[in-house]
Amino acid sequence: MSIAIETRGLLKRFDGFVAVNGVDLRVERGTFYGFLGPNGAGKSTTIKMLTGLLMPTGGELRVLDRNPLDPSESLEIKKQIGVVPEDLALFDNVTAREYLMFVGRMYNLDVPTVQKRSEELLALLDLTGVEKKLTMEYSHGMQKKLALAAALLPNPNLLFLDESFEGVDAVTSSVIRQTLNTYVSRGSTVFLTSHVLEIVERLCTHVGIIADGKLVEQASLDEIRQGSSLESRFIERVGRDEHALQSLTWLEDAS
Ligand SMILES: Nc1ncnc2c1ncn2[C@@H]1O[C@H](COP(=O)(O)OP(=O)(O)OP(=O)(O)O)[C@@H](O)[C@H]1O
Ligand SMILES: [Mg+2]
Repeated sequence: MSIAIETRGLLKRFDGFVAVNGVDLRVERGTFYGFLGPNGAGKSTTIKMLTGLLMPTGGELRVLDRNPLDPSESLEIKKQIGVVPEDLALFDNVTAREYLMFVGRMYNLDVPTVQKRSEELLALLDLTGVEKKLTMEYSHGMQKKLALAAALLPNPNLLFLDESFEGVDAVTSSVIRQTLNTYVSRGSTVFLTSHVLEIVERLCTHVGIIADGKLVEQASLDEIRQGSSLESRFIERVGRDEHALQSLTWLEDAS
């Protein structure tokens, strides 16, 4: 099976601090990969390196059989990937349709195609009722939905979603899950981070767990769960500070 993402010894240092510490990822095409880890573990930093937003300090990367660090290949990769970043970075003073038209034209789609796909995506994600609003007036969940619509619009082969389900209502979450399942079953790949393990358990076929910048687990969901829940396996791999749990004695009594 061909590989969508492969890294060897991926490293990112910020000044003296090592945020991503020798990560070896392997994501086959057609898989739904959940990238888990506690706050500050290095998930977003990894996604930024895989999508060309951040230069690694060291290591090797392959994305869709190309090298994102090679300027002659990185544009071709960008044409084939969709990204919903953690900080959504939408433009403020545009409507959803204007934003999607801008994104579609950036990907060289013709105007009728952008219009058709935009209407379908806005309807799917329940954003048609707010068409006159500017994105700066959107709620957080609405902004996430528009960012997802923009990522899907060019029909990418590989989709990166950094906490895209967080803050989205239950109905939309269910619609997005169905859409992504269809997307993966046609052979495309999703690389997703989420703190909602229930969503990861429902969607993902493969899971990687990162802690303190190191990949501590990478396998199929069934192998990782080993008969127990993903949550207990996650806590086992990542560790929990039992001392911190016991230390808030002042919170037990009302003032
Ligand atoms: N630009 C930066 N400069 C310095 N340190 C950074 C920078 N970006 C990230 N870091 C540090 O790198 C580490 C990993 O951050 P990252 O954003 O990748 O975590 P994360 O796993 O996405 O966490 P979360 O679940 O909270 O989103 C953190 O300790 C963070 O403070
Ligand atoms: Mg993050």
